[in-house]
Amino acid sequence: MSWLNAMIDRLRYRSVPPPEDRSRMRAVANNLVLHLHPTRVPAPALRFSRTWGLGGISALLSVLLIATGVLLMFRYDASIERAYPAVQAMETVIPFGSLLRGIHHWAGNLLMITVVLHMVRVFASGGFRGERRMNWVVGLGMLVLVLTFNFTGYLLPWDQLAFWAITVGTGLLIYVPLVGQAISDFLLGGPEVAQSALRNFYALHVALLPVVLIFGLSYHFWRVRKDGGVTIPPQSEQVTKLTTIPHLVTAELGVALITLAGLVIFAMAVPAPLEALANAAHPPNPAKAAWYFLGVQELLMHMHPLAALSLAASGLLGLAVLPLWDRDTSDEGVYFRSQTGRRAGMIGAALAIVLTPLLVLVDELWLDLPTLLAPISTLISNGLLPLLLTLGGLAGIYAGLRGALRARHSEALVGLFSFVMVALVVLTAVGIWFRGPNMALVWPF
Ligand code: HEM
Repeated sequence: MSWLNAMIDRLRYRSVPPPEDRSRMRAVANNLVLHLHPTRVPAPALRFSRTWGLGGISALLSVLLIATGVLLMFRYDASIERAYPAVQAMETVIPFGSLLRGIHHWAGNLLMITVVLHMVRVFASGGFRGERRMNWVVGLGMLVLVLTFNFTGYLLPWDQLAFWAITVGTGLLIYVPLVGQAISDFLLGGPEVAQSALRNFYALHVALLPVVLIFGLSYHFWRVRKDGGVTIPPQSEQVTKLTTIPHLVTAELGVALITLAGLVIFAMAVPAPLEALANAAHPPNPAKAAWYFLGVQELLMHMHPLAALSLAASGLLGLAVLPLWDRDTSDEGVYFRSQTGRRAGMIGAALAIVLTPLLVLVDELWLDLPTLLAPISTLISNGLLPLLLTLGGLAGIYAGLRGALRARHSEALVGLFSFVMVALVVLTAVGIWFRGPNMALVWPF
């Protein structure tokens, strides 16, 4: 049996490297970690409630999406005849194909959520001001990138869900003044969603966007380090610093393992959806956009597309100029700025929970501005007027918080931000669950 012992020895030697190799491997891993992080980090920055691990989870999901996406490319074919059968084959015959597709699909959806929550966390802890203002804008770019990633990926299975969501989504683009038609023509490569659209979406999804993501994330991470790390409250006494290895790395590994395990279990239990083959002659009823655009689609139910898109663009612009709008760094790192800021945030959220569904109901059931103001152009009665009323309402909330709570500018902005974010969540929920055939309001339960 000497050959067996020799083989076991060889295997043992291979699976457990000798001590000098192990220390070299550890040195390489440590080196990699210390390229991303400084050698020591302030103890308060390590508290889980500082970041909730949301930036790290988003980074992990981005890497996972690229890895699973590359594997999916081995079997996918961006042709309108072969894309659907290829995806069907992944679901039925290719070993682990369904799991791989499920992980890619759910990681993309989860990334949408974690990126938005990460942005909320950065806003809440005041991490968008001072030297971090540039990284806030870079982050916003990443948010738009993640949206575009999801949007371009949505079409690829070429099923009914994909075809009609993209038809509805790109249909909105033509309302963007001046450039909307050109962007739609560029994306679709023709007047409708067909072969050129599938090819263009595929090229963007697997070639251009990943490159921009890799460069964008590298710059984002580099800036986090350069700007002094995660935002922490000013310390009255000398703050203790802990070594990155093992303190930070152990925490990051723990969060990564829990996220990965949760995602794999979820993808095993709930496979990625695949409906019937796309059919341009049979629109589903209702035809809805992808879930992350349903908030904007819901706005379209209540105002002229130009007004709805202007409102969405104002929101994005408001976020982009936030570092100029609020430069007060005196409360840096303090969640919601102060006790008053916290109260302003809660009032903003409560107002959004009550007012948003109420306004949806009033507009749907009673108020018909275009009929009421019949002689006026619908661009004004159903566009400019609701747009100005909404912006006026937002200004009213800000002024109310300043007056009633005696909130500082920074604290009132917390209330305004929480109103807008919660209103967006409510509109999205209405679009997902409360819109049925012909987009009429329905009771889902
Ligand atoms: C794929 C998208 C993104 C990834 C992977 C990512 C990743 C990260 C990571 C790992 C950090 C270090 C702190 C932490 O773990 O939370 C961080 C910090 C930061 N991120 Fe992001 N981020 C993304 C998108 C965004 C967005 C949408 C914004 C805001 C609009 C943003 C703004 C910032 C800022 C200003 C910081 C530094 C301030 C602080 O941490 O207190 N990021 N990001």
